[in-house]
Amino acid sequence: MNKKIVLSGIQPSGKPHIGNYFGAMKQFVDLQDQYDSYIFIADYHALHSLRNPKEMKENIIGVMLDYLAIGLDSKKVTLFKQSDISEHTELAWIFDTITTMPYLMRAHAYKDAEAKNKEIDVATFNYPVLMAADILLYSPDFVPVGADQKQHVEYARDIAEKFNRTYGDTFKTPEPMILKDVAVVPGTDGRKMSKSYGNTIPLFASHEEIKKAVMGIVTDSGGGIPQNVYAIHKLLRPAEELLEIYESHAGKYKELKEMLIEDLEKFIAPLREKRKEFERDIPKAIEILKMGAEKAKVVASQKMDEVRERVGVKI
Ligand code: ADP
Ligand code: TRP
Repeated sequence: MNKKIVLSGIQPSGKPHIGNYFGAMKQFVDLQDQYDSYIFIADYHALHSLRNPKEMKENIIGVMLDYLAIGLDSKKVTLFKQSDISEHTELAWIFDTITTMPYLMRAHAYKDAEAKNKEIDVATFNYPVLMAADILLYSPDFVPVGADQKQHVEYARDIAEKFNRTYGDTFKTPEPMILKDVAVVPGTDGRKMSKSYGNTIPLFASHEEIKKAVMGIVTDSGGGIPQNVYAIHKLLRPAEELLEIYESHAGKYKELKEMLIEDLEKFIAPLREKRKEFERDIPKAIEILKMGAEKAKVVASQKMDEVRERVGVKI
């Protein structure tokens, strides 16, 4: 029986945090037994924010080690990096030819960048198109991501439909797969936890880093319950149990934070240890990435061939 397909990726743009884990990465692990899984490192996406080659290389290897440390099994999952499969950028070009500027101007990421008055590069503007290509090459049924990526998956669906209408049925339209009770994990300042805001609790944080991050959580309280502390804590304990603790400790922010530090340490310590084990054999991690690219290439090149045929450039 054919398994359903899932595909997702994260950018090598810095250390992953618990928002990335609970929003997206944990799902990759939970799904690997039931689904035919493609998990990749979105390095070409990261280029628009990271222009330091040394750091880029370190981050790519870093994400690979992160994937292995959280429990992705290379026998079950095709692990690869985007830049090894040239079909991603090639298909993005073809999608560019059927995508309008006003449509891309409605993307959140572009609007945010514009609101900040940044000099927006073409890649930032075009990001949803490359992401559509990343997805559609592998015909996934589902794309497990955090809630903030929902719009991007919708762009991929729209682009698939437009292509299919224009050239005939070629692409499967994927569904985003978003965990309801996670939604968006807040950072230590209450905004979305994000590598780009410096408000994270790193997924492989040392005990000191955990302490520092938690003590820095901004405590805006509703009825004596520090909301930001609670929202992070709720990822680690069942809601009822937690609510009881928070109600019986109303207003005692320091104690609640200390409990959160303890729970985070319990959760993070084994992951940290696992990552250290994988760090000892980086050549093996690189080898897994190469083997994954070979597998992904077969699927992507077949799809791309079909696309070339459809648009009429294959003679
Ligand atoms: P960041 O904003 O930290 O750079 P990425 O854009 O690399 O994160 O996101 C990687 C994955 O993690 C995506 O699927 C994204 O939806 C998810 N994610 C990122 N931040 C959060 C968050 N605060 N809560 C839930 N999921 C998140
Ligand atoms: N845009 C995603 C992020 O910032 C990363 C990504 C790129 C991705 N291509 C993808 C996620 C394809 C899922 C599927 O997190």
